[in-house]
Amino acid sequence: MSLANRSLVTIDDLSASEIESVFSLAREMEGGIEKQTDVCQGMIMASLFFEPSTRTRLSFEAAMHRLGGNVIGVSDVESTSLAKGESIADMARIVGSYADILVLRHPWEGAAKVVADYAGVPVINAGDGGHQHPTQTLLDLYTIRKERGSLKGLTIALWGDLKYGRTTHSLILALAKFGANMLFCPSPGLEVPPNVIRKLITEYGGEIETHDVTKKLDESFPIDAVYKTPESPHQLAMMPDVNLEVELRKGVDALYVTRTQKERFSDGESKGKSRKFPVVNRKFLSGKEFRKTMVMHPLPRVDELDYDVDSDPRGMYFKQAAHGVPIRMALLSLLLGCKKPSTFEKDFPEPQVEYPVYNRGYAVTCPNGRCVSVQETETKYLVPEFLITSRDPLTLRCVYCEHGFRPGFVASTDWHEGTLEHKKYHRVDSHFARTIKIENLVLFDTERQAQAMGFMPSHFVSESPDDK
Ligand code: NCD
Repeated sequence: MSLANRSLVTIDDLSASEIESVFSLAREMEGGIEKQTDVCQGMIMASLFFEPSTRTRLSFEAAMHRLGGNVIGVSDVESTSLAKGESIADMARIVGSYADILVLRHPWEGAAKVVADYAGVPVINAGDGGHQHPTQTLLDLYTIRKERGSLKGLTIALWGDLKYGRTTHSLILALAKFGANMLFCPSPGLEVPPNVIRKLITEYGGEIETHDVTKKLDESFPIDAVYKTPESPHQLAMMPDVNLEVELRKGVDALYVTRTQKERFSDGESKGKSRKFPVVNRKFLSGKEFRKTMVMHPLPRVDELDYDVDSDPRGMYFKQAAHGVPIRMALLSLLLGCKKPSTFEKDFPEPQVEYPVYNRGYAVTCPNGRCVSVQETETKYLVPEFLITSRDPLTLRCVYCEHGFRPGFVASTDWHEGTLEHKKYHRVDSHFARTIKIENLVLFDTERQAQAMGFMPSHFVSESPDDK
C-alpha cells in the first residue's frame, strides 16, 4: 500500500486501512506538532480556494508550514486567469508545474476530479460544490475514533442540510465503510441525495429504512431514514418486536449538525426551508438518547447550534476543527511520499462494484447544472463520462459530480447492415432498449439530438411523451 503521488478527490479514494494509516500518523504528529519541520522541507503546496473558507484553507496552510514546506496560493477567482475564461484543466497543468501538491476548493461539482486528471501532481479536494469534502470527513472520523475508540457499531445522527452539505456526503460513505449505523435527520426538503443513498445500498451493502414523515415518533428528533450496516443491525432486525429506530435512538453516539447551505439553493428552492427545524441546544440535548452524545459540526455555525452547548462537555466542534491540522499534516506527508503509511490488517470489506463506462461523447450530458462537465469553459475539452449503474432501468452516474439520472433515448451502434432505415432510436424504457448490448449503446437526452445524428424514431417512440 502506498499513498505517494495519489490524489484524494472523494472519500472512496481511500480504503478503510489507508484511512487508519492517516490516523496513525496524525496521532504521532499531534504528539509533537512543532517537531515535524523537516518532513516536507523544500516542497510546495498550492492552495487554490475559489469559495470562502476559514478552517480548511488555514489548517491546510498551517499543516504545510508545520511540515517545513512552502505555500503558494489564491483565494479569489477574480485574481486568477479563470476570470479571463481559462479552463480549470489549463490552470491545473500550470499550477501542477509550479507546486508538488494542489489543494482545491471550487463551487463546481467534480472540479477536483478534473484538476486531478490534469495537474500531474497529487490533488486534494477541499470541497467541490455540494459534492464531497473528504478531508473534513477524515478529521470528523478521527474525532469520533479518539473519543469512542472505534467506529464500528456506533450510531451517528446526521442533522440539517443533508442535501447540499458536502461534508455529510463524504461522512455518510466513510461511516458505512467503517460499519457505523446512521440516523438521517434532514431539514424538510434537504434529504440525502438519491445518488448517495444508491451508493450506500449498492456499494456498501447496507439497508435503508425510510420513515413516513407524518408518523414520526417524536417531532423533536425527526428521523426520516435509518441506515443499517450489513452486520450488527441485522441482529437487531432478526429480533421480533424490536423496532430498529427505537433501538438505535436509545443511545446516539454522535449528533453531526450542519448549517443550511443557502448559497447552493436553486432559484426554485425556498430560502426559508429549514425554519421549522429544531435548534440543537442544551434543552434539546436533555433527552435520554443524548446523555453521552458527542455534538459535532464542521462549522461555520449559523443558528442551528446554540452557543449554550459550547460549555457542555458533549460539544466537540472546536476540538474537531483543531484536529484539522494534524490530519492534514499526515495526509500531505503521505501523498507527497515524505512518510510511509503503516500497514493495517484489512478489517473491513471494501466496496467491490465495477460499473461499465459510457463515454461515447454523443448527445448525453449531465443534467446537474453545477457539474464541472457542463460549464462553458470546460465543455471545449471534457468528454462527458458516465458509469452505467443499472441496466434496468437504465441509469447513469456522472463520473465527475456522481449525479445519477436516466437518459431519454437509446440506439445501437449495431444498426443492421448499416442501412439508414434500421438506424433507429428507442425510448429508454422500451423493450428494444433493454435488448441492446452495453458495448453498443448510444444514448441521447432528446429525440432532436438522436435525429440530428441520423437516427430515425422506432415504431414505438411515437407513443412517447413530447421531446424533452
Ligand atoms: C464546511 C464546508 O465548507 O463544506 N466547512 C468546512 O470546511 N469546515 C461546512 C459549511 O460550509 O457549512
